[in-house]
Amino acid sequence: MARVTPDQIRQMKARGERIPMLTAYDYAMAQILDAAGVTMLLVGDSMGMVMLGYDSTLPVTVDDIIRHTQAVVRGSKRALVVADLPFGSFQVSPQETMAAAVRIMKEAGPQAVKLEGGVRSAPAVRLLVEAGIPVMGHLGMTPQSVNAFGGFKVQGKTEAAARALLADVAALEEAGAFAVVLELVSAELAQIVTERATIPTIGIGAGPYCDGEVQVVHDILGLFPDFTPRHARRFAEVGTVVRDAVTAYIGEVRERTFPTAQQSAAMDAAVIEALRREP
Ligand code: KIV
Repeated sequence: MARVTPDQIRQMKARGERIPMLTAYDYAMAQILDAAGVTMLLVGDSMGMVMLGYDSTLPVTVDDIIRHTQAVVRGSKRALVVADLPFGSFQVSPQETMAAAVRIMKEAGPQAVKLEGGVRSAPAVRLLVEAGIPVMGHLGMTPQSVNAFGGFKVQGKTEAAARALLADVAALEEAGAFAVVLELVSAELAQIVTERATIPTIGIGAGPYCDGEVQVVHDILGLFPDFTPRHARRFAEVGTVVRDAVTAYIGEVRERTFPTAQQSAAMDAAVIEALRREP
């Protein structure tokens, strides 16, 4: 089964076909999401918050991304896997960005990388694209700049900020990015960007008009107890299902009703008898 390609993602926009994307960080979840038919899997640096318990994405390292991307690539057959470039790996220079991206591509095998920023990241995007590494951009509320934004706040609200965002999208397009994530911008601005952009826009907290949607899988499955962002809908309460199952498990272990013969291995009766005869 062939994987989805960046070119096919662009064609989906041209056909007006919506592009569903979810985060994944491990083998088992990647298998489930891939079998369900999600078009792209993002090994996002959101792993820092939902998998590792940090209060931001900033501590995530290239090694973290590599380890989790390896698992997601092993667990998926069809989805295009995008790996995030974490904080510190692309801010210094295009050359350092290239070094981080090459490590991720070589050691983990995703089909693309994603990095935050528009005009300022465009030289690095161009270098990667020229080297044959497909790149997805990320604009709006870029979580690695949470300290500069003073929290997870909607971006692009003034005319100047909205025009800067449009310039960022144009810079990414020009540098060769194949798609761009728009995070926490108004639905109206996302609509204008989507109409003008030649590359697909993938929204998160950006309303219904983007070409695709990405969500943190823990948020839509009810797996992250700390909070659910306003832009996410819980499509299941997996956290509750897990807690109830574990409560039942604890009860059965205590009551000695689990495990039973059904979950046990048997041994030759003569050997057992000999063991019992001669301690
Ligand atoms: O890391 C992540 O999960 C992301 C999404 C929020 C787009 O970058």
